[in-house]
Amino acid sequence: MKTAFFSTHSYDKEYFNKYNKEHQLVFFEAALEEQTTNLAAGCEAVCVFVNDKLNPIVLTQLARQGIKLIALRCAGYNNVNLTAAKENNIKVVRVPAYSPHAVAEHAVALMMTLNRKTHKAYNRVREGDFSLRKLTGFDLYGKTTGVIGTGKIGAAFAKIMTGFGCKVLAYDIYENEVLKQTGIEYTTLDSLLKSSDVVSLHCPLTDQTKHIINDASLSKMKHGAMLINTSRGALIDTKAAIQHLKSGQLGYLGIDVYEQEEKLFFNNLSGEVIQDDVIMRLMSFPNVLITAHQGFFTDEALTQIAQTTLNNVSAFEKGAPLLNEVK
Ligand code: NAI
Repeated sequence: MKTAFFSTHSYDKEYFNKYNKEHQLVFFEAALEEQTTNLAAGCEAVCVFVNDKLNPIVLTQLARQGIKLIALRCAGYNNVNLTAAKENNIKVVRVPAYSPHAVAEHAVALMMTLNRKTHKAYNRVREGDFSLRKLTGFDLYGKTTGVIGTGKIGAAFAKIMTGFGCKVLAYDIYENEVLKQTGIEYTTLDSLLKSSDVVSLHCPLTDQTKHIINDASLSKMKHGAMLINTSRGALIDTKAAIQHLKSGQLGYLGIDVYEQEEKLFFNNLSGEVIQDDVIMRLMSFPNVLITAHQGFFTDEALTQIAQTTLNNVSAFEKGAPLLNEVK
């Protein structure tokens, strides 16, 4: 099936070409938005990533061009208007799980880097500065970690934290019975925020979870606690987080996702004047660590993404059941 890929980078081409046997793949660097839908002319499917915009106008334009399938090469689908997709008779498929360990382990990397400041130590030693000034961290052993959202990634993260010797508190709208048997304790959101030294976000972005971390919830957190977000940027009200970082109430912030990331992430803007004053303010804090949505970026996850996406397209083409359909 002829499929137009949007927002592609060299690694997308590498992994999809490696595993593709039966489809015609056309790769575009441009993101999918109202101005770029015509790139998919002559295709029956489009393959998109986290920051492509599939609003009602885009979906209507795609349907007019003959697009019948949206294949998300990611798990989250908050960027797709599912009602408009249905109205336009376009099916939506995704990759529901591709190494939850990749994202969980990246959350741990953010946490450990912020705590033990290895990013600063690396640069310092390279300059011949072997001093330890301001590199003090804290033992994770015996601390309390709060996990918001205990699906595939949150559960993997929670299990790693028990290995550190942490007490793990969890909050989710559904409790994971298997996780409970490993000693993880479910509680209310308020009690998790009040008791945790580290809070890590692993719930999807929905109307209910948008700004789940806001001025009020940040005020409830332990003074000086650490917040990690590898899920979706808009779970955090970034401006509120900045105020709490300035006051010291929020002790550390590690993010792999950012509310306005679609204008920045996945691009090399090193020669440009960045217009986003909020991220520039965030970058100025010594206790903030930002990575550009790389939680998924492991060989295992990229392989799984390519294989599952290609299988999704094949199933649609053959009229087989769409096991990974988003309804
Ligand atoms: P999942 O669907 O397995 O788990 C999500 C969990 O969140 C579920 O247990 C669900 O009950 C819970 N949840 C839903 N609404 C909630 C609410 N209002 N309050 C508390 N919990 C709620 O999803 P998975 O695979 O664990 O992924 C989680 C998120 O991670 C994705 O939605 C995506 O946004 C993000 N992600 C980030 C990546 C990255 O590269 N940084 C890569 C892959 C996913």
